[in-house]
Amino acid sequence: MKILAIETSCDETAAAVVEDGTKILSNVIASSAAMHRKYGGIVPEVAAREQLACIIPTIKEALHQAQITIDELDAIAVTVGPGLIGSLLIGVESAKTIAFVKNKPLIPVNHVLAHIYANFVHSEPFTVNRKQINFPAISLVASGGHTELFLMESPEKLTWLGGTLDDAAGEAFDKTARLLGFGTGGGPAIEKAAKEYQLSAFSPSIGLRVNPQQPAIKLPRPMMHDESLNFSFSGLKTAVLREYNKLKVIHSNDMYYHSENLNTPLSDDITSELAFEIQEAITDVLVAKTMSAVKKHQAKSILLSGGVAANSRLRDKFQLAIDNSKLAISLHVPPIPLCTDNAVYIASYAYFRGNPTDWHKVTALPDLSVEE
Ligand code: KG4
Ligand code: ZN
Repeated sequence: MKILAIETSCDETAAAVVEDGTKILSNVIASSAAMHRKYGGIVPEVAAREQLACIIPTIKEALHQAQITIDELDAIAVTVGPGLIGSLLIGVESAKTIAFVKNKPLIPVNHVLAHIYANFVHSEPFTVNRKQINFPAISLVASGGHTELFLMESPEKLTWLGGTLDDAAGEAFDKTARLLGFGTGGGPAIEKAAKEYQLSAFSPSIGLRVNPQQPAIKLPRPMMHDESLNFSFSGLKTAVLREYNKLKVIHSNDMYYHSENLNTPLSDDITSELAFEIQEAITDVLVAKTMSAVKKHQAKSILLSGGVAANSRLRDKFQLAIDNSKLAISLHVPPIPLCTDNAVYIASYAYFRGNPTDWHKVTALPDLSVEE
């Protein structure tokens, strides 16, 4: 079964053709992220205009790369929500038009749930020998807008277990990255700075801090030990701001901070240590809560997805937690390009779990819930 999927929930215009939910025939992404950089965040109006400009060329390119015509497709899948209304409308109306004109089944897709299905794709150009997913599985979706835990009893059966009460994990990366002066680089910028700190402040051979003058920055791990499977990340940015200002005062006269002017940003090495601790705090919570869900539901697999699953420290910590638990659990993480937004997992979700729906009943749902 060959499905053309369209994804326009935010600032990416994506189209892909996927066979039987697993084999990628094409994967095309156009992004307006660079246009939003100067505003310090996504401008919905700009994103929607770019969606409009990109949608037809992106769909055409996806069909071209897959060497397929619309007539040869079995169905059209489209993200209907959650997301920005202006952006969603472009994809939804395009998909409805194709479905109506070409008389194809139309499958509406929930973007957040669909992220999970990036784990079901196993074809070239990505990792070929994906591990077998055993059920029940616990699935963590950690993206810019969502942090959600699901119990997955089969590829079709998903039950929501908990989620963030305020900011998402990706949002915490994005907002604290801005505080540290990394602009709109978000998670990848924090990860890069954290790696620099790890390389400079630790001796890999002895595993000790080699620069005793560095302040041992400690940030809170919100809700890490609470019973629920919910998260809260909004307090982290206040804690980071507090630490940042404190560090500025402490280091205003020392070797790391050659300025008496407190408006000057912190030196790179201290910023990197703060970035490292931000990454530690967020990833510690994500791992602890997911492992707690695993134990509660005697899960056999963990599926990570969403932009934050691209974080290598998070992946490593999950593997370590599984090894330490001595439980027989397999860890599944999509290849990095499939963690962030794309249309491949939209098609995969549609194959495994989608419901073909009359085109005139399909509509953009910006506030679509993850609870069904
Ligand atoms: O899934 P995604 O592409 O879009 C949404 O549906 O939100 O996720 C984007 C989020 C952003 O918050 C971004 O900072 C985060 O994923 N992200 C990362 C990394 N790469 C992307 N967070 C931590 N480490 C990364 N390497
Ligand atoms: Zn997403």
